[in-house]
Amino acid sequence: MTFARNQWYVAAYGREIGRELFARTILGEPLVFYRSEAGEVVALADRCVHRRYPLSESRLEGDTIVCGYHGFTYDKAGSCVFVPGQALIPRTARVPSYPVVEQDSFVWVWIGDRDRADRALIPRAPWLADPAYTTVSGMEPLAARYELLVDNLMDLSHETYLHGGYIGTPEVANTPITTEVDEDNRVIYVSRHMADAACPPFYAKSTGIDGRITRWQDIEYHPPCLYLLHSRVAPVGVLPEADGSDPHGFHVEVVYAITPETEHSTHDFWAVARDFALDDQEVSDFLRESNRTVVLQDVTALDILERVIQAEPPDYQELSINIDTGGLAARRILKRMAAEADDPAKGVAV
Ligand SMILES: [Fe+2]
Repeated sequence: MTFARNQWYVAAYGREIGRELFARTILGEPLVFYRSEAGEVVALADRCVHRRYPLSESRLEGDTIVCGYHGFTYDKAGSCVFVPGQALIPRTARVPSYPVVEQDSFVWVWIGDRDRADRALIPRAPWLADPAYTTVSGMEPLAARYELLVDNLMDLSHETYLHGGYIGTPEVANTPITTEVDEDNRVIYVSRHMADAACPPFYAKSTGIDGRITRWQDIEYHPPCLYLLHSRVAPVGVLPEADGSDPHGFHVEVVYAITPETEHSTHDFWAVARDFALDDQEVSDFLRESNRTVVLQDVTALDILERVIQAEPPDYQELSINIDTGGLAARRILKRMAAEADDPAKGVAV
């Protein structure tokens, strides 16, 4: 398996990075993060150039990292500014630094050739930092390859079976999807609109709707990293107004950032932003706990699947059906992105 390099990935929430050194591996590359005295996020390779000691096990002094083993000292750009016992700093004494952008509450890091990093390519999740929404969020480590999480999120019919009692009802699996792929902009859309569905506890308790609902799930996946689920629920039959306004609909923006850690593990960032009960702490606590439970149900299932896949011959022939069209489109685009990253001559046409 090859990673899609030369792409932006979510490395952390902004709140995770402060004046403590913070280690996280992204696409197999161990990185160390910190916030400079001016507040900007810095990302460097987490290995001292001298004897590979993790810089994350070291000490921050102003805006420099002093290696905890022999004192090699690096500035924000990764250049070594001090070595012990000699005045001459070797020309090769530097560690790679990584382009970073803080946006929509996430810390995005560019994995690939520095000079190809363009912040305009980062997909947006504006609700997460919008005062018109209240957001709960977290990150769960997944001991499975990231493709399994992509498959999982692109096909929500599994909600009925894996997440019954939380977000799944029979109508989710029973309602057909529509899939559209924008090959140029590399966005995959999967929609499932349920006209008359049972209201699962996730929405009944948070919205206060008593009875059946009209429930829309509109997925928008920006490979490789950002997955958006625009979720709308309303009492059954209540639709948006002709002018597009939707005063009686409840809107939940479910955001996942899918970041490979290694070939067989993934950072599963999740966030739930809502446009109702904005100041209701009970609703926030309930949605945080419910969504975390749902994510952990997926984590348990995908961890099992990873172990199964690793133990079996690679030529296993899966069977795909209509519910898989979004996931198959995602696999195709991810494969192409990975191939392009291997072949710089092709460039990255996004
Ligand atoms: Fe799930």
